[in-house]
Amino acid sequence: MCGIVGYIGTKEAYPILIKGLKRLEYRGYDSAGVALIGENQHLNVYKAKGKVSELEDFALQKDTSGNIGIAHTRWATHGEPCSANAHPHYSSSESLALIHNGIIENYSVLKDKLQSKGFAFKSTTDTEVLVQLIEYIKQTNNLDLLTAVQLALKEVIGAYAIAVLEKDNPDTIIAARKSSPLVVGVGNDEMFLASDATPIVEYTDQVVYLKDEEIAVLKKGEPLKIVDLHNVEITPEVKTVVLSLGQLEKGGYPHFMLKEIFEQPDCIFDCMRGRINVESDNITLSAVIDHKDKLLNAKRFIIVACGTSWHAALIGKQLIENFCRIPVEVEYASEFRYRNPVIDSNDVVIAISQSGETADTLAAIELAKSKGAFIYGICNSVGSSIPRVTDTGSYIHVGPEIGVASTKAFTGQVTVLAMLALTLAKEKQTIDKNEYLSIVKELSSIPEKMKDVLELNGEIAELSKIFTYAHNFIYLGRGFLFPVALEGALKLKEISYIHAEGYPAAEMKHGPIALIDAEMPVVVIATHNALYEKVLSNIQEIKARKGKVIAIVNKGDNVISKIADYCIELPTTIECLDPLITTIPLQLLAYHIAACKGLDVDQPRNLAKSVTVE
Ligand code: F6R
Repeated sequence: MCGIVGYIGTKEAYPILIKGLKRLEYRGYDSAGVALIGENQHLNVYKAKGKVSELEDFALQKDTSGNIGIAHTRWATHGEPCSANAHPHYSSSESLALIHNGIIENYSVLKDKLQSKGFAFKSTTDTEVLVQLIEYIKQTNNLDLLTAVQLALKEVIGAYAIAVLEKDNPDTIIAARKSSPLVVGVGNDEMFLASDATPIVEYTDQVVYLKDEEIAVLKKGEPLKIVDLHNVEITPEVKTVVLSLGQLEKGGYPHFMLKEIFEQPDCIFDCMRGRINVESDNITLSAVIDHKDKLLNAKRFIIVACGTSWHAALIGKQLIENFCRIPVEVEYASEFRYRNPVIDSNDVVIAISQSGETADTLAAIELAKSKGAFIYGICNSVGSSIPRVTDTGSYIHVGPEIGVASTKAFTGQVTVLAMLALTLAKEKQTIDKNEYLSIVKELSSIPEKMKDVLELNGEIAELSKIFTYAHNFIYLGRGFLFPVALEGALKLKEISYIHAEGYPAAEMKHGPIALIDAEMPVVVIATHNALYEKVLSNIQEIKARKGKVIAIVNKGDNVISKIADYCIELPTTIECLDPLITTIPLQLLAYHIAACKGLDVDQPRNLAKSVTVE
């Protein structure tokens, strides 16, 4: 939530900052702003409500000169989205400007204190409180900026990634983080700052991921300096980031979401690369090799996650319980963290997160750690916060996901969970050898089958046109396909703003069936598995009430095709891997309905990709 960019060097900062903001726009897009120390030594702040392009229009006739600057794209927490609440925020004297990602929880106490000292506020944000506090501490004690920032941050409760510019100190940016991500890029005679590495990779692949309560001092002509809140110097740990520019572009697709849906065969191949040996049909997960005892002796697994990652967790539960005979609980990270769960050192907690930055998931990990549990992370974003606080884990390796609606990360998470379950089951000898070999073989054929599903894109696009009228949708599935129904419904609601609910198909008669009428589209995932006949009966029940059935079936199904209104025919796979195949048409359906309605598919209203606030 909220994207931060900074530049200091010899080039014009403004175009670099704007380009950087556009790369980070997925993190929030309700307002944007930039602060630059211009050639005239003024600290210029420009901001606008709306997307980065609005800011560009606003700044067209303004002085955007300078080779030092900071910029921000916002997802509102405190204060409505408007230009006054957009970042950067000036201090009262306008000698400081600050951008912030996170939440200052004690802002109201601090604001009262500052108001009593005569400080006036122009916005309703928590962020403005922080910049005023820094100014107050700086002025009253006659301190340099770094010391004032250190003292101010000691008073702050909450989460922050910040960057501060000072008019009278035109060679320095001070940046700091706690529980919100911040990366420094180190180039030749220039340094960059960003919420993730995507705005930086165009200029340098050398990055430093700041840790909690670290403060970076980016000073022209000097190497990067990092100190903590007590001014103890820390040696920067420079890492090489592997990210190609092509991964950050739409590559000819109209939206990132469609590109990412189409990338899935390659992503899943990459996810399995080096882990599945096709000759021997064997899986090697280094995390399992390194922590065999802990994982094999676990009394219970608890999976914590949010949103789409939570849906993947529901599939993970079935995979692990099915093959490993270990009990698995799935928890919303946001609930788990606040409910005093029974958990101890015999438990393994699996934390799933695409971004690796979700605040609730991070807090759930901290809680589980404090109770002695062993933590296994399943993340996408390399170098993000969650992989750094877990005991071990497996990256899903699907590349940057930029569309706000998660697609390839979901199938990547399910793939890793399948590999994990199979590896543990083999080690525990809870799976028959032939079954293990046949599932591993089938897993390696999934990318090819995904390609077949993507061939249906045109057909699904046509079908979608029929449903743009809908105000409601129901999604039904059973077993491994119930979480797929939930995921299909989530995709539709977040990008098309059509209300949609996912249910286990058999639950329908316990309530939701009351909603069925001739206007109600019902997507039923009815591929050929053990519960096929049962789902067939559910379809009959819907048809008897005139509901419109869109059935997801296997190729050659000539039973459901006769009763459903529309059929999408997919290649067959084994039941436990079916989510990898059946999710794709639901992603395409949601995408095309939203695109048909002319909606902003990649940046749907009110959402942000990386939820770094609770
Ligand atoms: C839905 C979506 C969200 C995320 C959720 C968790 O399309 O993207 O529901 O899945 O915010 O995010 P991560 O996986 O980054 O922890």
